[in-house]
Amino acid sequence: MKLAIIGSGMIVNDFLPMVSDIPGIELETIVGTDRSIAKMNDLKKTYGINEVSTNYEECLKNERVDTVYIALPNHLHFSYAKQALLNKKNVICEKPFTLKLSEMQELKELALANHVILLEAITNQYLTNYKKIKEAVGTIGDIKIIECNYSQYSSRYDAFKRGEILPAFNPKMGGGALMDINIYNIHFVTGLFGEPQKVNYLANVEKGIDTSGILSIDYGDKKVVCIGAKDSTAPIRTIIQGNEGAIIIDGATGTLDHFTVINRQNESKLVDCKVHTHRMYEEFLEFERIIREADFETMKKQLDHSEMVMAVVDKSLVTAGISLG
Ligand SMILES: NC(=O)c1ccc[n+]([C@@H]2O[C@H](COP(=O)([O-])OP(=O)(O)OC[C@H]3O[C@@H](n4cnc5c(N)ncnc54)[C@H](OP(=O)(O)O)[C@@H]3O)[C@@H](O)[C@H]2O)c1
Repeated sequence: MKLAIIGSGMIVNDFLPMVSDIPGIELETIVGTDRSIAKMNDLKKTYGINEVSTNYEECLKNERVDTVYIALPNHLHFSYAKQALLNKKNVICEKPFTLKLSEMQELKELALANHVILLEAITNQYLTNYKKIKEAVGTIGDIKIIECNYSQYSSRYDAFKRGEILPAFNPKMGGGALMDINIYNIHFVTGLFGEPQKVNYLANVEKGIDTSGILSIDYGDKKVVCIGAKDSTAPIRTIIQGNEGAIIIDGATGTLDHFTVINRQNESKLVDCKVHTHRMYEEFLEFERIIREADFETMKKQLDHSEMVMAVVDKSLVTAGISLG
């Protein structure tokens, strides 16, 4: 995979130290704004990226690039991904895929029409521990209640309070607790249990954006609560309750470091099948394979999942009266 990284923010700085562990990924270009040239030159030197660019269109014409990794504020995912697909580049797009379901569907059509790969970078769907949780769900009887709490006080919330609206809290840029943090819980839950019957998002809204909120998801025979907060703090934990036992996951649903299965007799078993310390390793390992093998079957499966998540997002935002973009 000959990769162009678009953006040089927090997630790119997190991703780059890990990427050399994946054979087959060549760092061709990093693309960003004039504001970030010095930062990108530092990254180029540290991680052996071939070139720095401030011209995205030129990057899309570069034949040494076959894939773009879009790591930009949420509202830019759609237009940057669309341009790349029209130029027949594979696209790995950071979560949340787009601001609206219809945008995601348009990208899917474009990828299929142009015979290129399109994938959402959502860590949990690729983690071995997630596959193990899927297996464990079958061992705790009928599932009744699922509770996911991903609450992490954000330093960007302090800035928001002072009146400095960074992308993660900007409704025009597709920010908010649902899009930024609760989205991991939505992926987690729908990846296990499929399409919900009903959703309702009860949000704390400040200056037009949800700084925290409770998303209830109804499956008829099981009820789910997904909490995402950037304005307050709590233990980050997920519990799946069945009539024969429970699964407890300490830590974020985007990371899934390990989990515990407890039966009704209170006997517990710790499961830790982590294959790498970095949560993004397994997804990029799989992205490299999917792109190398042009595995459209897997791509379609992953896109169906992302589409289901975007449908939940669309409906949830409507119930909370939040409009993004
Ligand atoms: N998968 C994960 O675990 C994970 C974790 C965190 C974030 N994310 C996702 O990754 C994305 C980026 O998040 P982040 O935290 O890295 O954001 P960030 O720190 O704010 O960085 C955003 C980057 O986008 C660049 N940018 C902004 N406007 C641009 C434009 N018009 N054209 C080109 N570049 C532009 C910024 O450059 P300037 O600084 O020059 O403006 C900066 O390099 C978001 O979608 C977020 O949801 C994923």
